[in-house]
Amino acid sequence: MPAPFFRKVFEYNGKINDAKVYICGIGYYELYINGNKIGDNVLSPVVSCYDKRVRYIVHDVKNYILKGKNVIGVILGNGLYNSHTPEVWHFDKATWRDYPKLLFELEINGEVIILSDKSWKIKNGPIIFDGLRNGEYYDANLELDGWQDIDFDDSDWENVTIVPPPGGILEEQLMPSCKIMETLQPVKNWELSDGSIIFDFGQNFAGWVRIVVSGQKGKEVVIKYSEKIKEDGDITQENISTLVIGGEFQTDKYILKGKGEEIWEPRFTYHGFQYVKIKKDNETKIKRIEGRVVYTSFEKIGKFLSSNEILNKLQHCTEWSYKSNFVGIPTDCPHREKNGWTGDAHFACETGLYNFNSSKAYQTWIDNFVDVQRPSGQLPGIVPTSGWGYNWGNGPAWDSAFLLIPWYIYLYTGDKTSIEKNYNAMKKYVDYLTYMADDYIVDFGLGDWVCVNPENAPPVSLISTSYYYVDCILLSKFAEIIGKTGDKIKYRKLAEKIKNSFNKVFYKGDGIYDNGGQTALGCALYQGLVEDTEKEKVVKKLVENIKSNNFKVDFGFPGSKFVINALSENGYVDIAYKLITQTEYPGWGYWVKQGATTLWETWDGNASLNHIAFGDISAWMYKYLGGILPDPEKPGFKHIIIKPNPVCDLKWVICEHICRFGKILSKWERKKDEFLLEVEIPKNTTAEVILPDSTCHSIKNGVYKFVVNFNKV
Ligand code: BGC
Repeated sequence: MPAPFFRKVFEYNGKINDAKVYICGIGYYELYINGNKIGDNVLSPVVSCYDKRVRYIVHDVKNYILKGKNVIGVILGNGLYNSHTPEVWHFDKATWRDYPKLLFELEINGEVIILSDKSWKIKNGPIIFDGLRNGEYYDANLELDGWQDIDFDDSDWENVTIVPPPGGILEEQLMPSCKIMETLQPVKNWELSDGSIIFDFGQNFAGWVRIVVSGQKGKEVVIKYSEKIKEDGDITQENISTLVIGGEFQTDKYILKGKGEEIWEPRFTYHGFQYVKIKKDNETKIKRIEGRVVYTSFEKIGKFLSSNEILNKLQHCTEWSYKSNFVGIPTDCPHREKNGWTGDAHFACETGLYNFNSSKAYQTWIDNFVDVQRPSGQLPGIVPTSGWGYNWGNGPAWDSAFLLIPWYIYLYTGDKTSIEKNYNAMKKYVDYLTYMADDYIVDFGLGDWVCVNPENAPPVSLISTSYYYVDCILLSKFAEIIGKTGDKIKYRKLAEKIKNSFNKVFYKGDGIYDNGGQTALGCALYQGLVEDTEKEKVVKKLVENIKSNNFKVDFGFPGSKFVINALSENGYVDIAYKLITQTEYPGWGYWVKQGATTLWETWDGNASLNHIAFGDISAWMYKYLGGILPDPEKPGFKHIIIKPNPVCDLKWVICEHICRFGKILSKWERKKDEFLLEVEIPKNTTAEVILPDSTCHSIKNGVYKFVVNFNKV
């Protein structure tokens, strides 16, 4: 069904002190007043389970309302609300699914002037198809010329009908909207033998292209988006198109009206890509093509730069994968799925919070967990969901996003809203795990997903039980934060029982957990399950494993977070550094060597090339190279720990994070035998600086310089 255009003329003659529009247009809306687009937001509102919760947006429109007659225009897209083509997650079968709907209110000086009532007019226009995962087709010959003019003759437009609402509670969207955050120019282009042109933007990203074309009326331009090129120079979507079953994949179409230069870009879809292929007839000319980079408009609040080019490139890749995978909600990938995979979100959450002001966006997404939680406490692997993902794709390693993300937000920003708001539902989830556990061992869910060698991966029960333990620890902490002493003690005790059982089942003695693989050891250490007496032995085994594996990674998503943090927390930042920067397969550095501009889904690069789940490496750089760490006792960087690590061949680091109090800087370099550190911490904070010679220095806001002479250490 084509995208509906809505029109409403009204008159207002009073003085305007204040004018606000409250709009909920689902799947997505675009709002105009007197021909002006209101707001620079795109793909709004953010997706949700529409029968549970629907978000509206408030626009200040004071400067757009004229004295006398005015015209309001709205266009609606399908988005996830009306996901009409089949794919494997069944959003096309969502019980909330229906044609796009509009709820609108204009208030002037606090008084309701216009509502979305029967007086509005509606007509189909040039957007003849729009599918979130398919693309958008636009026939410029169907443009409704002048539809935004006050005196436009809309007598052949139909009257709207009043329809039932989607069912969910209405809630204001308080997180930043998606916007076009950057415009990229192609770096290269070439022609194929059939006359199609390929444009290369030199960067994998989420968004779409804007084209400037000229040609004959009725001719079609087909735009296909991909992130891979075949040897013959053509694009391929093979690695990303497999799960969308109906309709075309990542394809936009534009039909020319044949009137000089025509400028177009889609409105209600987005794609993940580096390349586009343009198919057209010979007479049609592409005058210009630009890449429109789209993501949630949070601010950049972090910076990491170092003397190691591999690290810098990995930081670049992580930032771009993060941005590509936060188009409204945290997703796994911007093309194949666009799904809110819970595990991917929490693996990359600390990276997100160091680099971007993304806590409000996470909080908005976390609210959806309550909407999808079953009365049993069970959670699905993707949020939102149409009902898919309760019996596969979930499990503690993924579901724990529900506790971990609110915890990270608290740790990095001091904001406990998500903890307070969702405490009961989190508790229900943990109690569900208790129901599923057998002698405190939980044996369901995804394990070391996309690991290198499945033989070296631990069983699902090891990873799942470790998350069950962490969830209890977190719940106990949350209970303390919100003053529920009974729960605090109860879940602490439960955690102890899980730890005992975990060690009974998985600890083989002599520093070995399970099969002694990187993930098993990293998991036990990082998740806090190793008894103090055994810690040194386990750390030693992990280091030995990595050394004997030539610093090559041997883990999947969860393992990646466990291993680099377990090493670094236990005095082996240098080993983590070598693991991360070595450039042979398998490892992060290998991707850089292959020319990656974003992080990949798999170590060999045979699947998505824009995944964020291996993205904890950026947080690792902030924590262990720059050495900017939050203090859980005084969260949100009220008290800061600065502990830089001048490891291996690393010569200098500039690391910066803007916390709620202001800028934190850790900048260091090595000059011959000296380590020179500059630290800046903002007003109203204190910090503990721990230098490489292990001396500690307490500081208050200000700029400080430290020198360590290695000869004297
Ligand atoms: C997604 C992953 C996700 C996984 C879990 C994949 O299809 O792309 O990133 O975490 O499924 O099963």
